[in-house]
Amino acid sequence: MNKYSSPVRVAIAGATGYAGQELLSLLVRHPEVHLVAAMSSSPDSATRSMPRLARTWEGKIEPLSRAKLATDASFVFLAVPEAAAADLAPALLDAGVKVIDVSGAFRVRDAALRAKWYPATTILPEHVAYGLVEHNRDAITNASLVACPGCYPTAALLALLPLVQGGLVDVSRGVIIDAKSGISGAGRTASDRTHFSENHGSMSAYGVLGHRHVAEMEQELGTEVTFVPHLVPLDRGILETIYVRTTPGTTAAAIGECLGRAYQHAPFVRLTGDALPEIKHVAWTNFCDIGWKFDADSQRLVLISCLDNLVKGAAGQAVQNLNVICGFDERAGLR
Ligand SMILES: NC(=O)c1ccc[n+]([C@@H]2O[C@H](COP(=O)([O-])OP(=O)(O)OC[C@H]3O[C@@H](n4cnc5c(N)ncnc54)[C@H](OP(=O)(O)O)[C@@H]3O)[C@@H](O)[C@H]2O)c1
Repeated sequence: MNKYSSPVRVAIAGATGYAGQELLSLLVRHPEVHLVAAMSSSPDSATRSMPRLARTWEGKIEPLSRAKLATDASFVFLAVPEAAAADLAPALLDAGVKVIDVSGAFRVRDAALRAKWYPATTILPEHVAYGLVEHNRDAITNASLVACPGCYPTAALLALLPLVQGGLVDVSRGVIIDAKSGISGAGRTASDRTHFSENHGSMSAYGVLGHRHVAEMEQELGTEVTFVPHLVPLDRGILETIYVRTTPGTTAAAIGECLGRAYQHAPFVRLTGDALPEIKHVAWTNFCDIGWKFDADSQRLVLISCLDNLVKGAAGQAVQNLNVICGFDERAGLR
């Protein structure tokens, strides 16, 4: 049943960034949404058009207005750097606005870990839900602020959570996640590491044993995660190869049944089994595809999990959360 009357009034802060542009593109087509504002970073920014949406959206990107966000919208999507999200969200919550945040500012519950990785978030507001819809639906429904999972954690957790919770993973051995990401994962501003001539024709590891997404993965999984992300010369998409030791006696059938049960009603998780997923199959979609190979003799399981970092890893997942909170069809605006 719809908890909000349609159309719901929504606004975006950070609509000029990669995640924000994707949100804008989804929300202007969403059948249950009225977009009241799409804003850039500063009250002094010039008004901008969005050529990609010409003839789809007649609006303009406006300068940032905290007052307008707090008064004109029932939901505000934050697609801004985490320090800006930590700064913007509390006043919106005080004004009774629901916040759907794609930055990492509110994902980590442990205060010490949050201080290490997200130091701008000094206080975690009440009624924050971790926005992994497939595993946290009830909390999301009642949340004031949804902290959408990071792009890498979304792919990892969708593959691993059912198996860990089902007792099929030997958590004493930890898990190893080798991840490849397209460059848009780093946002719109080019750096020495991400600009074209550095990345084209190359591949590099970064954040080894020091990536902030590990805190979130370990928080949700309750096991040690060795995570090595790589930048690959693609514009979008993430592919993770996940190495797991299963608990003694685990069978191939048990793995398939566990994942099948977890996602039988999940419209955006596609289990591909032996047919291993590829970035091309999920790019520009809200799907996460998960395949796997299992060797029963050695109890080794290798999972491949694949999604579009800007859709299921950011904007699409954020819209999916809106749909769940409002009681809309979970697929609204995302088909
Ligand atoms: N890229 C991904 O794949 C991805 C995936 C999941 C989550 N995220 C998260 O989503 C957020 C946005 O990422 P992105 O990749 O879209 O970054 P981006 O391309 O660099 O865009 C950043 C956006 O934030 C705005 N902004 C910058 N500083 C601001 C401030 N102090 N106050 C208000 N707005 C400000 C920018 O506006 P101007 O154009 O005016 O500068 C721009 O709209 C980040 O927190 C990121 O961690 C990104």
